[in-house]
Amino acid sequence: MKKQRLGIGIIGGGFNARFHIRAWIGVRDADILGVFDPDKKRAEEAVGIARKLNVGEAKAFRSITDMAADPKIDALWISAPNFTRIEVMEEIVHALEKGKGDLTGVCCEKPLGRNVKEARRMLELARRTNLLDGYLENQVFAPSVVRGRAIVWARGAALTGRPYLARAAEEHSGPHMPWFWEGSLQGGGVLNDMMCHSVEVARFMLTPPGAGRSVLTPTKITAHASCLKWQIAGYAKALWDSSGGKTDYLKRPAEDFARSLIEYKDDKGQVVVVETTTSWCYVGAGLRLSMELLGPEYSLQINSLDAGLKVFFSRRVKGKAGEDLVEKQNAEVGLMPVVSDEENEYGYTAENRHMVQSFLKGVRPSENFEDGVGVAELLMAAYMSAEKEKTLAFPPSGLAHFVPAVAKGTWNPKKA
Ligand SMILES: NC(=O)c1ccc[n+]([C@@H]2O[C@H](COP(=O)([O-])OP(=O)(O)OC[C@H]3O[C@@H](n4cnc5c(N)ncnc54)[C@H](O)[C@@H]3O)[C@@H](O)[C@H]2O)c1
Repeated sequence: MKKQRLGIGIIGGGFNARFHIRAWIGVRDADILGVFDPDKKRAEEAVGIARKLNVGEAKAFRSITDMAADPKIDALWISAPNFTRIEVMEEIVHALEKGKGDLTGVCCEKPLGRNVKEARRMLELARRTNLLDGYLENQVFAPSVVRGRAIVWARGAALTGRPYLARAAEEHSGPHMPWFWEGSLQGGGVLNDMMCHSVEVARFMLTPPGAGRSVLTPTKITAHASCLKWQIAGYAKALWDSSGGKTDYLKRPAEDFARSLIEYKDDKGQVVVVETTTSWCYVGAGLRLSMELLGPEYSLQINSLDAGLKVFFSRRVKGKAGEDLVEKQNAEVGLMPVVSDEENEYGYTAENRHMVQSFLKGVRPSENFEDGVGVAELLMAAYMSAEKEKTLAFPPSGLAHFVPAVAKGTWNPKKA
């Protein structure tokens, strides 16, 4: 009998999982019933948030296998660090193959893997167990992106021709946990961490609503990466101190700024272009997502910091540093934008709702592990282009096994 409601287990109870849990208020038809995190305190905190928000009678599990085996759990959301992807997915698959659990689906946060090989392995593991797979790229579910794209395609594109240029940028002042800064653990620097969003949302906007990924074929890629801020002595020391002496950007930096220019051909042979910019060295009010979509007689623009709500605090308001106005907030005084419903505006609510509805219907989500593999291919090609300092035809040879120098700890622009 088809289920009317799903039980969800979350793997990894950190920063990102909390966005998912808060987003659940608008999801419907599913309850968060479990959290696994090797850090028991983190797991209990995430469980506490789920219970407080009344989005499910969550409990902490001792292992992924135990959570998968619980008959109340129907789908798993992977929100553990990038370096654990394969071990996490293998544990899920082994549990199912031993008959422990009967899962419908699995969702995985961006990036699907630290490189193409890992991303393809994730896809292969999901296929082996016939799990429905969802790739958690929230930006393609952001209401302003979805609605803006629908309007542009229905009006401007229908009457004057398809959009030919998409720009996307994600910028903030740097990640919250030391592992993000380590190329070997995270897979790279900001290019891997945040350009995954920008390449996918830009491709999505250039794709007609209802059409699949195959409408656009990448043909060329040109990219650039540099470390602009975090190799400056004082900032490198700050990273060293906050990681307990592990992160050494003087010797093993990762890029904190990256750009890419991706040329695609559409199904009629028309050239369209994606331009992305990402950085960990943007000090504005907080996280800024910006997108543009341009066509012959129209354009669209989105800037997440152009918030409808702004607050002003004079210099006499000397409060504690916080993240209560916007993600990756950098100030508490002056005129500050407030992103009043981050989970919704960044796309988490619609993303999770889409995944749940797809799993309930027994169909593959529109954003799935194939898309995660496609993103990994573009990002690794971007690293190849940046390392070679030249434009590459896509796919470049050697892509399947390529590991960026930054992930091997051998990239250091200061020495070049
Ligand atoms: N969509 C987005 O915009 C977005 C934003 C932030 C993070 N992310 C992604 O979400 C994932 C998690 O990021 P985060 O910010 O929550 O990191 P985090 O470091 O804040 O939290 C990760 C949690 O996973 C736990 N963990 C470690 N090893 C684990 C394992 N083997 N199994 C289960 N849990 C484990 C840690 O104890 C920690 O609590 C990353 O892949 C990241 O790229 C996506």
